Amino acid sequence: MESLDQRLVSTWSHDHSSVPLSYVQPLESRPGSKVTNHNSCKTIPVIDLGGHNDRAHTTKQILKASEDYGFFQVINHRVSKDLMDEALNIFKEFHAMPPKEKVNECSKDPNGRCKLYTSSENYKIDAVQYWKDTLSHPCPSSGDHMKYWPEKPTKYREVVGKYTQELRKLALEILELFCEGLGLNPRYFCGGLSGSPHVLVHHYPPCPEPSLTLGLAKHRDPTVITILLQDQLVQGLQVLKDGEWLGVEPLPNAFVVNIGLLLQIISNGRLVGAEHRVVTNLTTARTSVAYFIYPSMESIIEPAQCLMNETTLPVYKSMTFGEFRRQFFEKGPKIEEELQKQDLMNNIIFLFLSTPTSPLTTVTKSPTSGKLPLL
Ligand code: OGA
Ligand code: NI
Repeated sequence: MESLDQRLVSTWSHDHSSVPLSYVQPLESRPGSKVTNHNSCKTIPVIDLGGHNDRAHTTKQILKASEDYGFFQVINHRVSKDLMDEALNIFKEFHAMPPKEKVNECSKDPNGRCKLYTSSENYKIDAVQYWKDTLSHPCPSSGDHMKYWPEKPTKYREVVGKYTQELRKLALEILELFCEGLGLNPRYFCGGLSGSPHVLVHHYPPCPEPSLTLGLAKHRDPTVITILLQDQLVQGLQVLKDGEWLGVEPLPNAFVVNIGLLLQIISNGRLVGAEHRVVTNLTTARTSVAYFIYPSMESIIEPAQCLMNETTLPVYKSMTFGEFRRQFFEKGPKIEEELQKQDLMNNIIFLFLSTPTSPLTTVTKSPTSGKLPLL
């Protein structure tokens, strides 16, 4: 078995003029020749957080974008352009280091939570591999985990420390807007539900046959929300909308925000995490930085109780985030059945018997319009 430094796509891909068989996607998930013709007519909404609009208007825009696409971009968000550039450059420098050095720099955490992997976290069990390498680690606001982060490039901890602090502020600001829109307490996400943020730095090397491969499989994020910094030079992220893949155009100084499965559960299916994937390209390496809002392991994930009443019943089960994660990685797409409440019918019967005059329509509505996740 090859070692990790040998398996990294960035280690070997430049001497390949075709894609190894283990990276060729089955026909139904191949991007095909349309990979470079991004649909430029439809794009995901762009939201200005710079106070040019009143707050109620911004909240409305965010909810509409989330209901329509599950995705939006934010501009004028107060994270400085210099810090965004500095962070992206440090992350690019990390992935450009010699393979053994990258592995060493990610071997300091005794719990293995600062990690480097290739393809997906399920490399060993994935039937087909993905054209990417990823560095991932926790980035709690306490700074506690920083001692396990890479020390090279030399400014890594300083820059990534500053960047993730700023991203936390931005995430809480966006989550507060969601609270206002959904009717939740404005501090609903401030504690355990945003307690364990992680950063995932993806690197997609140039690929000799982009029509056959994927950088990242079609999936929904196992997060509350995700805030993504994209490379300006090259497009790769695509969102599934009405059966069509839409490219997410990199805008200067913008972040891409998407709804994760956890916000889908908390909002009781009002907001739905959109499916997305990453395609590769022939000439230019792409780096993207995902900031994942993860709850702490013991946090309870469930439809917000204040949104429930006699006519709106929870359509998802309640479980700890630890249990959710375990099932997410174990069951893959089958988590759909696991998350939804099995006793929905019992609830309806109970409701019918106890309040025969109540309208039942909201209860019987399907919780989601699409299928649940894959990663
Ligand atoms: C993710 C993700 C998109 C990208 O990390 O979940 O969807 O462009 N990333 O790398
Ligand atoms: Ni994602």
